[in-house]
Amino acid sequence: MNINEFWVRLCAVDDIPPLGSRLVERTAGNIAVFRTADDKVFALLDRCPHKAGPLSQGIVHGETVTCPLHSWQIDLQSGEAKAPDVGCARRFPVKIESGDVFLALD
Ligand code: FES
Repeated sequence: MNINEFWVRLCAVDDIPPLGSRLVERTAGNIAVFRTADDKVFALLDRCPHKAGPLSQGIVHGETVTCPLHSWQIDLQSGEAKAPDVGCARRFPVKIESGDVFLALD
């Protein structure tokens, strides 16, 4: 972890719809926090590496989100587009503690 990062409590896990996301609005670029069917959470910049589509409005399946604009599939763990597409969405560290979601910001 970067020492310039600090953890902020975002919400309860249950405040994020399963297979959905919650948007964190920032001037430096919004962050989409996703929840999978098995209650894992992942955070990516809300900006598709293709043409900046809002990943927060995509469809979550497994540990992947499909971009709502042109259906690129983005791996939630790595932020990488799945082949044959190439690109990467910035990831943010996120963790769950006692049912609450914490996001690391810098
Ligand atoms: S902007 Fe996401 S697939 Fe085109």
